[in-house]
Amino acid sequence: MPYYSDDIIEEVRSRNDIVDVIGQYVHLTKKGSSYFGLCPFHNEKTGSFSVTPSKQMYYCFGCGKGGNVFTFLQEYENMTFTEAMQELADRSGIQLPETEMTSQQKARSAKRDKLLEINKEAATYFYKMLHTDHGAIALKYFEDRKLSPETMQKFGLGYSDKYSNDLYKYLRSKGYTDDILKDSGLVTIDEVKGGYDKFWNRAMFPILDANSKVIAFGGRVLGEGEPKYLNSPETDIFDKSRNLYGLHLARRTRADKFILCEGYMDVIALHQAGFDNAVASLGTALTSGHANLIKRFGKDVYLSYDSDGAGRKAALRAIPILRAAGITCKVIDMNPYKDPDEFIKNLGAEEYQKRIDNAQNSFMYTVQMDEVDFDMSDPESKTAFYKKVASRIVEFPEEIERNNYIEAVASKYNVGFENLRQMVNNIGVRQGMGTKVNADEVEPRTKLKSGIQKKASKEEGMKTSQRLMLTWLVERPELYQMIKDYIAPEDFTEGIYAEVAKVLFEQFQESGMANPAKIVTMFSENDEQSQVAEIFNTNVSGIEDTRDWEKAIKETIVRIKENSLEQRRKNMDANDVNALNEIIKSKKMIQELSRMNFSMTFVN
Ligand code: UTP
Ligand code: MN
Repeated sequence: MPYYSDDIIEEVRSRNDIVDVIGQYVHLTKKGSSYFGLCPFHNEKTGSFSVTPSKQMYYCFGCGKGGNVFTFLQEYENMTFTEAMQELADRSGIQLPETEMTSQQKARSAKRDKLLEINKEAATYFYKMLHTDHGAIALKYFEDRKLSPETMQKFGLGYSDKYSNDLYKYLRSKGYTDDILKDSGLVTIDEVKGGYDKFWNRAMFPILDANSKVIAFGGRVLGEGEPKYLNSPETDIFDKSRNLYGLHLARRTRADKFILCEGYMDVIALHQAGFDNAVASLGTALTSGHANLIKRFGKDVYLSYDSDGAGRKAALRAIPILRAAGITCKVIDMNPYKDPDEFIKNLGAEEYQKRIDNAQNSFMYTVQMDEVDFDMSDPESKTAFYKKVASRIVEFPEEIERNNYIEAVASKYNVGFENLRQMVNNIGVRQGMGTKVNADEVEPRTKLKSGIQKKASKEEGMKTSQRLMLTWLVERPELYQMIKDYIAPEDFTEGIYAEVAKVLFEQFQESGMANPAKIVTMFSENDEQSQVAEIFNTNVSGIEDTRDWEKAIKETIVRIKENSLEQRRKNMDANDVNALNEIIKSKKMIQELSRMNFSMTFVN
């Protein structure tokens, strides 16, 4: 993990204008002193995503995501901080200090680079081949499967020629040695006979990683034949349990779920039909590596596995793996068609969208699959089914969740809610999981909630006041001179506000200017960075004319000060005379402040 000094971080940040960088990803329109566009982090129709050049920050008023130029790349491109640093340093021509790699690491990294190069060469070779006379049969194959030229290009589809060593010869001519080629997964080297291609006379599907680098291939037989698909073996750059086909495209979707399917053609057909969120786990069963990858991109899942027995089995195995990674999933019913590709070819995108809208909760899907194993006309078997379901429900840690599922199952499968709940409790007690449902618990909790809510709104008001003051300071730096005698960083009592205020006040003292984007970098977690962005992007409507504005500032100072005094009084040692004097002094100051005619002071 390379370590960079604050100075170099700040240099890289300040040399990359946030409007330029974000403008490459989001269409921005200037409105006043900020730019606005559709938020890339949540689905919306009106642009609540703002980028403010003077602050060098972005903030979405809809979903609350925000930060500086580093945060953006980390969130949007899923980069680590180091990767974002490197990217932005490159972009602005800054040479970062060399980080030390061991010679072993260097060799490994050089080999990976070479393998990536080779795969890219091969992809280009296959792609070109598709559009020659030799490739005509593959082109026709793709056309027969209703792929448009744009789709073929988008997925880089290609053709591997009938000869058994043309790719090998080509790669040798490019200067790659047998030594590296044998590890590429594309050729086999025979001591006596020389090099052989792995793929020949197949329709080629390059597999790209999340960063659009070709890491492997799948090759389909043209027509019938075994094996239907041949895939690159695992190599130094291809770990099939950690890659999803189509992810490099789907990561850009604005949908909050990926459509997870089984095959190459499913992903391609879905994208062609406008579902830009489709990915596939490529013939291997879904692993926790895949699930974590999905989680990294912040998505939930629609499962769109084949509707045959194997597909159903695979779905039942995938659901708990996804759940374990904290991903919710819904199951799309594709009947009467086998897979998304066939479904769309027969019924079209609109019908598929309806299936998405009606996708089934994965737990209810699991239960429905259980039902097949039981004879519901036989009382004993029926009881066994309920027990099975109850044993599944026990696994939900939250009582409310368990109750919801008990209710859903009870109404769908015609069993009394209380009966099923009793079954769940019995199993729970037996397993010692403390899942005993106690009606008495529910009552006080609801009461408490209303109390908390009232308190929350008062707290919310105070938070807003403090954020407002910090936003104003950044937007009107001259304000600092006016308020510094009244307000100190400690007066900001909410969450990370005091920390932020402390640094902001230091910046004013040192340079007379605010640098909010630099403050973002002090926080390592993205949600903290969003909070900082929120702090510096607080608006209250209706304060347009100057008089209102001055009044608002005065009131806000008084409110913040009173709150912090109140807090101090609460925490004060009753015998501490000095503290008491301080408080009295502050109290007087607030009174003066309330009387003072601020409108004179704030002319600018
Ligand atoms: P399917 O057999 O469902 O094929 O395999 P498909 O995707 O519908 O293929 P088409 O529509 O006939 O072309 C699903 C996925 O399993 C992997 C491939 O990734 C395939 O897309 N698979 C299948 C293999 O790797 N090898 C095989 O022999 C078959
Ligand atoms: Mn298919």
